[in-house]
Amino acid sequence: MARGKFITFEGGEGTGKSTQSVTLTERLTASGRPALRTREPGGSVGADELRKLLLDGGVDRWSPLSETLMMNAARRDHLERTIVPGLEAGTWVVCDRFADSTRAYQGAGGGVSPAFIAAVEREVVGANRPDLTLVFDLPPEQGLERAFGRDMFSEVRFESKGLDFHNRLRAAYLAIARAEPDRCVLIDASGDRETVAALVWAAVMDRLG
Ligand code: TMP
Repeated sequence: MARGKFITFEGGEGTGKSTQSVTLTERLTASGRPALRTREPGGSVGADELRKLLLDGGVDRWSPLSETLMMNAARRDHLERTIVPGLEAGTWVVCDRFADSTRAYQGAGGGVSPAFIAAVEREVVGANRPDLTLVFDLPPEQGLERAFGRDMFSEVRFESKGLDFHNRLRAAYLAIARAEPDRCVLIDASGDRETVAALVWAAVMDRLG
């Protein structure tokens, strides 16, 4: 059986990637490609427990270095229990956030050494790199307005860090997309839902169809 494809969605807050990852998963399934949607941090029982620890509580509950280690512990469990078994069963795995989020949030945003993050990523992710990463791009002002406009009373820890932090994230994601053009496609997330869904589908078919 052919191995499934591994697609990750990346970008700042309020870029619409969660909604779009659901739409893509439905569309893949409807086109005869069995697909599952998952997300990070989370996606397995242990990783979901770590998600709760990571996202609840005050802005400074964990240092960026602690976050790096916890995100990667969650990622490893997610890979072992959900992502790799899914791909091996021939399922396309659509994952809302993955290792680039650690590079952007804990690295560019939090100041953890890129060399350390790269070393951990090599051990944790290894050969299980995404076949395609869609990087959702939007000015942080617009994204944060969308994010805070949602009815959110929990999980706001990462969204309360200030505009400067979010500008660093955006620059980091743009740099990742530029540095790894074979893996990454930049998606202009400023359009309406249908417009962005069409960009996503075109990118997936172009790269993996
Ligand atoms: P979400 O808002 O897309 O559900 O993601 C949860 C938060 O976790 C989001 O603010 C980004 C953050 N995050 C990191 O800081 N590092 C990571 O490696 C991952 C996967 C998420």
